[in-house]
This record gives sequence, structure tokens and C-alpha cells, in this order.
Amino acid sequence: MVFYFCGMNNPEDHFKKVISHAKEYGFVFQSSEIYDGLSAVYDYGQNGVELKKNIRDYWWKAMVQMNRNIVGLDAAIFMHPTTWKASGHVDAFNDPLIDNKDSKKRYRADVLIEDYCAKIEQKIEKEVKKAQKRFGDAFNKDEFLSTNGRVLGYQQKIDSILKRLGKSLEHEDLADVKALIEELEIADPASGSRNWTDVKQFNLMFGTKLGASAENAMDLYLRPETAQGIFVNFLNVQKTGRMKIPFGIAQTGKAFRNEIVARQFIFRMREFEQMEMQFFIKPGTQAKWYEHWKDARLKWHLSLGMGQENYRFHDHEKLAHYADAAADIEFKFPFGFKELEGIHSRTDFDLSQHELHAGKKLQFFDPEDNKNYVPYVLETSIGLDRMFLAVFSNSLKEEILDNNTTRTVLKLPAVLAPYKAAILPLVKKDGLPEIAQSILKDLQWDFNVIYDEKDAVGRRYRRQDAIGTPFCITVDHQTLDNQTVTLRSRDTMIQERVAVSDLKHLIDTHVSARNWLKKC
Ligand code: GAP
Repeated sequence: MVFYFCGMNNPEDHFKKVISHAKEYGFVFQSSEIYDGLSAVYDYGQNGVELKKNIRDYWWKAMVQMNRNIVGLDAAIFMHPTTWKASGHVDAFNDPLIDNKDSKKRYRADVLIEDYCAKIEQKIEKEVKKAQKRFGDAFNKDEFLSTNGRVLGYQQKIDSILKRLGKSLEHEDLADVKALIEELEIADPASGSRNWTDVKQFNLMFGTKLGASAENAMDLYLRPETAQGIFVNFLNVQKTGRMKIPFGIAQTGKAFRNEIVARQFIFRMREFEQMEMQFFIKPGTQAKWYEHWKDARLKWHLSLGMGQENYRFHDHEKLAHYADAAADIEFKFPFGFKELEGIHSRTDFDLSQHELHAGKKLQFFDPEDNKNYVPYVLETSIGLDRMFLAVFSNSLKEEILDNNTTRTVLKLPAVLAPYKAAILPLVKKDGLPEIAQSILKDLQWDFNVIYDEKDAVGRRYRRQDAIGTPFCITVDHQTLDNQTVTLRSRDTMIQERVAVSDLKHLIDTHVSARNWLKKC
């Protein structure tokens, strides 16, 4: 069968479709929607929660289960407030903000400049597409990018803007950030006005209070990253787990940031979930481990088969207050390449700061060197919601079939799909529903499966395509005779006749994390 990919070629249309599909099929809802919602806060529906759990499990399996020297942790969201003084978040966890005096809208100054660069990048992509068309099979993209005068000019412009931005932010030179916005003639995307205020810093942490009475209440913060829960438990885990360096502690959990640019659906949220791992290492070995984890994390992404061309590394020009090297794994979202995961070499900054503020040693005795030291830390940090958006937006396709009908299909990596199979009796009589139910009852011990007997079978297939179910198992009259069913593949739509007794093995081969993670 031949498919033609259609529609959604325009990234903006595609993104709109992603948002509406996520709602229509029970993946993502606006929080408190009946009260008109809360900006940049979202709820996951019955299918979304399964997809999100499967992404979390896939990460946990790769990071914890498959590494004998990495263990898990589940630290509380509330932490002693001194944690955030020590970590630098009270003083340095800021975004540079700028207001437009005419529209009264507030923006992140660095994002306005980055968006400007993204537009230049789109021009490069246009040049590439034009040349591809002109040269056909003989086209060499790398050569074109490194020799075409116009492209080189665009790239030079991007590099020099980002370099200047990085330098200004590093030196807290907010006047220069504003100057750059003015020089580039960046206008308010909402109103087109260029009437800007000065750039100011704004702390992103949410404050709250702990205690029964107002006088005695303690000021707390909702954690802006899960990492600090790992740092303050470093010795607890190292001692009770008898861990030897190098070793890692991993955790997944909620984090909160009062984001100013809260748009792009679940890309930038005020309440979100992180999956972080701190790898404790001997000082001086950080360069080696930095490369190791960059490589390992990219391989994890690639194992999901979402296209090598959709990932790239971005090395940070401006380093966070705790890092001596940092890179993002960027993914091609419908709105362009953006950060999906960070790999940070955090030195001994966090543990040393906690030693200082808590007055307690956070050191490791190295029996090989016969001495104590504060370990260095290599961190991998990925947003679960952002990963959800990467997977969901990459998987949503519209296809024109041979018979000229269109189908919307969510081609999720099968290991992440909410349901692995749908069991469908062809008709609601002749004992077929009973057989379908008994297949369901058996398979549900091993997989999340779903039963559907409503409407014609073709419509049921489409419903399962739309939520990404990799297999449909149809029970028909032949099943009564010889205990076989049809197994329909979501991606190829090919149906084959298989024995009921083979179903578990056939599905498992396609969906087991073992087979997917082996590609890492
Ligand atoms: N512990 C290091 C840390 O938190 P980060 O680069 O600020 O580093 C790590 O965040 C990851 O968390 C990002 O790569 C992104 O995937 C996710 N993330 C950060 N802010 C987010 C937000 N407001 N909404 C959704 N995901 C976010």
C-alpha cells in the first residue's frame, strides 16, 4: 500500500493540530479549564498519563535498571529554604525581562533575540531546500552549508548575535541586551511596537509558607529543579548504599518555575516534571564523563527512532553559575530546534556550597588515593513534558491512502504507546465478544490493552490509529473454528492471520523495552 504524507507540512498548522489532537483524544487538557484555565499549567488525560508514564519508565530503565552504579531517589518537593541560598537560586535564578510600553506585554529579552536568530536559521533552511531541488541527487548538504556565500553570511550573523548575547548575560550587562534588541530592530511580536523598557532581572522561584500561623510561618520555595534533593541526600545514599565513585543518583519529579514566556503548549510550563541524574565523579575526570553522558543520552534518544536529523547538540556560550561545561540536546519541535535535555558538568559547586551552608562535610573517602574529596558532578536533565511534546509532535501524521481517504495516525514508538493492542470482536454476537474478552483478560497481565466493540471495525481501527495503538486484534468467525485472529499493524495497516497463542510473543517483540533499548 502506498501512502502520501499530506497536510501539516506547514509547521504552524502542524503545531495547532498537535494541540487540538492532544485535547480531542484525551492526552493533554488545559488545567482548570472549566474556570477558563491557568496559563502554562496542564493536566494529562487518560491517554496522556499512560504515554507520560511510559516515557518515564523508558528513562528509568535506561538510567537506573541498566546501570549497576546508578540508584534512584524520591526527595520531597519542599526543602529547607537554605538549600536555595546554597545552590545559588535565590541570588542567580533569574530571567532577563523586557516590557513593551505600548502593548504592556512582557517578554524574556534573550528569547526575543533567540527567536530573531531562529528566523535567520529558517532562511538557511530555505536556501538548502532550493539547492536540494536544483542539484537533486548530487546535492551535498554539508558542502553547501560550508561554502555557499549567502548561507555563510546568515550563519555568521547568528553566531555573532548569540556570542554577544552570551557575553552580555554572563557579565550581567542588561543595558547591552537592550541595545542589541534595538540594533536588531526587534519588534513586539504582538503589536509590532519597538517601544521597549530597560531589561530587568526576575527570579523564577515560587514562594510559599510552611506553618500554622502567619507569625511563625517559614518562607519556602517550590523546588525549581529536582537536582538539589539529590545533592542534599548525597551522603545518605552513598553511605547506606555503600556506593563507590563513580556512581549516580536519579530521580523524576515535579519542578516549578514562574516562567514569563509561558507559551508553546507544554514546552515551557510553570509546573513540570524533570528526570535528572547526578553522576558523582573524581575531580579531574569531568571532561571524560561529560563526553560519555553526551553520547549515552543522545543514543537513548536515537533508540526511539525519531530521526537522527531531528537532534543536534548546542554548546552553551553562557554557562550557569554552577557549570564548567554544558550542552543541550536540541530537538526539532514544530516551532524549530529547541532545548530538550541538558548535560551539565557542575564541578563540586553544589556539594561545596551545601557543605558551607550546612556546616557538614559532604565528601567521599577514596580508598585508592587514601584521601577525602568533594566529588565533581556530571548531570543529565530532561523535561518529561518536553519529551512528551517531542514524541507526540513527531508521531502525529496525516496520510492520504490509496482510496483517497485521509487518516490521522499517531505513530508513537510502540514501546511508549498508551495501549499496546486493541481487541475488537468483528460483531457483537455469535460468541465473538466473549472470545475477545478472554483474549483481553489474558493479555492484560503483560500489556496495557483496550477493548472496543462499538461501530464498524474500520472506524475502530481509525480510533486506535489516532491514539497510537500499534496493534488491533480482530476476533471473527474464523476464530471460532481455528483459534486464529487478524493482527493489524498501525503503521503498515497490513493484516495477518495469527494464532491466539502467538499473540503475546508477537506483541512483546515489538513493544518490549529490551528490544528498543538495545539500540542505544
Ligand atoms: N538541574 C538542571 C536544570 O534544571 P535546566 O536546563 O534549567 O537545568 C533541564 O532544565 C530541563 O528541564 C530542560 O532541558 C527542559 O527539558 C526542562 N525544563 C526546564 N524548564 C522547563 C519548563 N518551564 N517547562 C517544561 N520543561 C522545562
